[in-house]
Amino acid sequence: MAMPFIDPFGRAITYLRVSVTDRCDLRCVYCMAEDMHFLPKRDLLSLEELDRLCSAFVRRGVRKLRITGGEPLVRRDILSLFKSLSRHLDAGHLDELTLTTNGTQLARHAEALAACGVRRINVSLDTLDPAKFRTITRWGDLDRVLDGLAAARAAGLAIKINTVALKGVNDQEIPDLIAWAHGLGMELTLIEVMPLGEIEPGRIDQFLPLSLVRSQLKQRYTLEDLDDRTGGPARYVRLRETGGRLGFITPMTHNFCESCNRVRVTCTGTLYMCLGQDDAADLRGPLRASECDALLEQAIAEAITRKPKGHDFVIDRRQARPAVGRHMSVTGG
Ligand code: GTP
Ligand code: 5AD
Ligand code: SF4
Repeated sequence: MAMPFIDPFGRAITYLRVSVTDRCDLRCVYCMAEDMHFLPKRDLLSLEELDRLCSAFVRRGVRKLRITGGEPLVRRDILSLFKSLSRHLDAGHLDELTLTTNGTQLARHAEALAACGVRRINVSLDTLDPAKFRTITRWGDLDRVLDGLAAARAAGLAIKINTVALKGVNDQEIPDLIAWAHGLGMELTLIEVMPLGEIEPGRIDQFLPLSLVRSQLKQRYTLEDLDDRTGGPARYVRLRETGGRLGFITPMTHNFCESCNRVRVTCTGTLYMCLGQDDAADLRGPLRASECDALLEQAIAEAITRKPKGHDFVIDRRQARPAVGRHMSVTGG
């Protein structure tokens, strides 16, 4: 294996997030507009092309691959991509193959994912109240996600629940979510809502700094700081009372960009060096220009020399436009 790509700030790029579709069967209010226009299917990279792209990154030192969307499990035949990528796990060239999912399709896919070497999955879920779930996702059925989670546990997958903390929506429910997740042996990570994409003006009012949540939780629980990181942006604590792990992802109030180890590829083969910046590189051109991967690797190497130091998200009521115009579903969180 070659040495990993090192960016201009000395950060090794060992984590690739790949969005395999911009589509989703839900429309979470902070993620998508209700009338999203999705890409025509012909613009998407084929599963074979996605495999080639991921494999080029693995050859160049990526150790962790996360498949995202949109909702990755709505892409037709997506399990065949997991299956082919699992060869890198078997060869010892990859430490982790995983996905972030909304859980609606997990009931039918959990076992096959586990058979492909997936060990740990992240499932997005912001509430345990069926009516609230329907409001946040615009039409989702909570029971489907709960069934999916049960199937994932039965298949032996470790689960981390991702909860976007929303003021006035689910903030009162955080202790219940913790008790539920930890009671079932799952981790829970809270996320600050980020200003991505033109969505609803109300999102600024829903912003909840996690520093506040943390001090509220301290009145109820003993928080023990944990040093271990999963290669992601979350900082973890253990709650002495439940024994479970709780993560905080705080892009708005505490920036973790200095240790950023990741880049992202969209389903059309656009490489984004940062979730919170617009600069991008086209990889579909070099991928399709030649059967051999030299051009592709060159395009990746060149793009990584442009990886920015960090994002510049701000929560500012006077600013009418979001920091980044594209939706989270384009770059996959
Ligand atoms: P693990 O640590 O492996 O569990 O995963 P992760 O946190 O990298 O992945 P996950 O898909 O669960 O990411 C959770 C959320 O964190 C994403 O949806 C984003 O909201 C946020 N996030 C992940 N990476 C970044 C990043 O590089 N910058 C910013 N600002 N936010 C990120
Ligand atoms: N801010 C923070 N998190 C978001 N997600 C989607 N949109 C946003 C946003 N604007 C989260 C989802 C999921 C992950 C893929 O991204 O809840 O956990
Ligand atoms: Fe779909 Fe996830 Fe976006 Fe919700 S947050 S609309 S589940 S991609």
